[in-house]
Amino acid sequence: MKNIPENSDNIHTTQSVSNDRKGGGNVHDTFDREHLWHPYTSTHDPLPTYKVDHAEGCEIVLADGTRLIDGMSSWWCVIHGYNHPVLNKAIEEQLKKMSHVMFGGLTHEPAIELGKLLLSIMPPSMNHIFYADSGSVATEVAMKMAVQAQDNPRRTNFATIRNGYHGDTWNAMSVCDPVTGMHGAFGPALPIRYFTDAPQCRFHDEWDPADFEPMRKLMEEHHDELAAVILEPIVQGAGGMRFYHPQYLRELRKLCDRYGVLLIFDEIATGFGRTGKLFAWEHAGVEPDIMLIGKCLTGGYMTFSAVAASARVAEMISSGSAGVMMHGPTFMGNPLACAVALASVRLLLDSPWQEKISHIEKIMTQRLARARELPNVADVRVLGGIGVVQLTHDVDLGAFQKRCVEEGVWIRPFGKNAYIMPPYMAVSDAQLEKLCDTLIKLVEEQE
Ligand SMILES: Cc1ncc(COP(=O)(O)O)c(C=O)c1O
Repeated sequence: MKNIPENSDNIHTTQSVSNDRKGGGNVHDTFDREHLWHPYTSTHDPLPTYKVDHAEGCEIVLADGTRLIDGMSSWWCVIHGYNHPVLNKAIEEQLKKMSHVMFGGLTHEPAIELGKLLLSIMPPSMNHIFYADSGSVATEVAMKMAVQAQDNPRRTNFATIRNGYHGDTWNAMSVCDPVTGMHGAFGPALPIRYFTDAPQCRFHDEWDPADFEPMRKLMEEHHDELAAVILEPIVQGAGGMRFYHPQYLRELRKLCDRYGVLLIFDEIATGFGRTGKLFAWEHAGVEPDIMLIGKCLTGGYMTFSAVAASARVAEMISSGSAGVMMHGPTFMGNPLACAVALASVRLLLDSPWQEKISHIEKIMTQRLARARELPNVADVRVLGGIGVVQLTHDVDLGAFQKRCVEEGVWIRPFGKNAYIMPPYMAVSDAQLEKLCDTLIKLVEEQE
């Protein structure tokens, strides 16, 4: 019998959090620290985790009553805020009918209505929807689709740009940045892909045709082995919060058409308004052959994703050797996820989301500008609902996080990037200003 401490939260009480706050609970939990893995952490000396009691609107409330203005949208997916009455109702109503039925041989209204709505807002050439479980799984499904859609058996590999991120599952890792991604940990175990330099031409800059030469060269040399090129359109998120020029995608589309290579857009982070357009492909007006969505699809209520494909891709798969799409997860098309996704997308489309996001963009551009004067700041950049302060050094995450909680905000930097991606349909101007000002204050303290 393992020795699991009964009253698991007394160790930490003395260390960092007094009990005189409104809520009685403690925010640090010994069992959690000693037995639960959190994303990208070691079990040796994990960074402290903060126990959440509940969340509402744009605030996360810790077990001790501390209220944190959320600057992360829980890794970019909570767009309408937490505990939203419309989304709660959608889940509750679907729960009364059925939380889940298998999608093999069965279907249901939420899946059908969601499919219709998604195809009505996605690139016109998207004609088929495959529901998947998470962003990483959507990447796996998209890569399997691209391989199955080939009539040339040599076309089994993938090309992509550096600084990309597509998830943590096997093939998804294989197309993440080979240096900043997980290749280091899994190296030879991963399939070898073709990487080329990330676009250097920034979103707001003058286009420089030389920026596309590395990709042109790669495609010239290897196009006959490639099933597809996969990348995040316009915004590279977890690989460095980089915003690149839309012309890059226009050039890539032309080349993919010339060589018969499929083009996969990973819009898992950029979808549903985050960049100022409903989807990032709209900045370039370039349609992919396969498109991934996830994260904000359910308004951040639960894990869910979808892979859209053109009729041509679907036809190539269905007339290929297997004749069917070789993927079928247990929780495919989960009714709860479909129902809340339907409610979330409708809620967004029925709202003045574009004005709201450009308003947020204006506030962050004005408010974060003064960070440029700080000696430890290399760059400040804003696009839609994304505000980034890039430091000259890696952020000390533990210290930064502790200060965030003391200041009443939740921001979680990575590497050199301290950034804000607020729940844009819920954040107030005052909350956003506090997020920006606190971000700068804490960056200054990092110096
Ligand atoms: C562009 C992109 N693709 C894929 C993923 C993986 O999604 P998930 O974490 O749901 O597996 C992410 C997650 O951040 C992402 O930003």
